[in-house]
Amino acid sequence: MEKSEQDALKKAAGIEAAKLIENDMVAGLGTGSTVKFFVDELGRRVKEEGLHFTGVTTSNRTKAQAESFGIKIVDIDEVSHIDVTVDGADEVDQHFNGIKGGGAALLWEKIVATNSEKIVWIVDESKVVDTIGRFPLPVEVIPFGVQHVITRFKNRGYEPTLRVDAEGTPIRTDEKNFIVDLHMNRIDHPQDLAEDLITTVGVVEHGLFLNMVNTVIVGDPRGPRVLT
Ligand code: 5RP
Repeated sequence: MEKSEQDALKKAAGIEAAKLIENDMVAGLGTGSTVKFFVDELGRRVKEEGLHFTGVTTSNRTKAQAESFGIKIVDIDEVSHIDVTVDGADEVDQHFNGIKGGGAALLWEKIVATNSEKIVWIVDESKVVDTIGRFPLPVEVIPFGVQHVITRFKNRGYEPTLRVDAEGTPIRTDEKNFIVDLHMNRIDHPQDLAEDLITTVGVVEHGLFLNMVNTVIVGDPRGPRVLT
């Protein structure tokens, strides 16, 4: 799929999801290029329709974008609940299990999602898969001892790589941790893998989001499809 075509599908999904945000809600705002379209649309509604709501963001990037539109953003600990969170995903299967963290924001994304009453994912159709795992699974790891964690993952056959920038420097998350990507190609038993990862000392969180999502809005050339 051409990038322009994919962007059009992401934008359509983002605009559809923005309809879910109503006055006085507390909304979780995800991270990524699809969410960027969603936040653009919220910004338009704030300006043109006087929409007023409070946002909790899953990254400093989204915070900066939302605040540039005058959207009120608060710390997650300042709210007692989050009505709905809209986020992107790297892959999602028919059971709404998926992989997140391509943009290195998975830790805050999972904390915001866990504290949300409703979770909506917005994706273009290329993200919908039969079996998750072709997209490398991001794992957020404490920098101290990261090479030992990588060795453990290698020994378990998880094909890990430390995520680095163009200069070869490890990228840092908003919590200043590292990301290790697992190139597993397919994940047949995501629950078992999730349990194994989260019990590995040094791992902060992983990008498997299982049994969490209520709705997936898929950008489709014939118009956004809302899956529940
Ligand atoms: C960031 C994420 C993103 O939501 C995910 O990578 C999808 O991003 P995009 O919409 O740019 O494809 O999990 O950590």
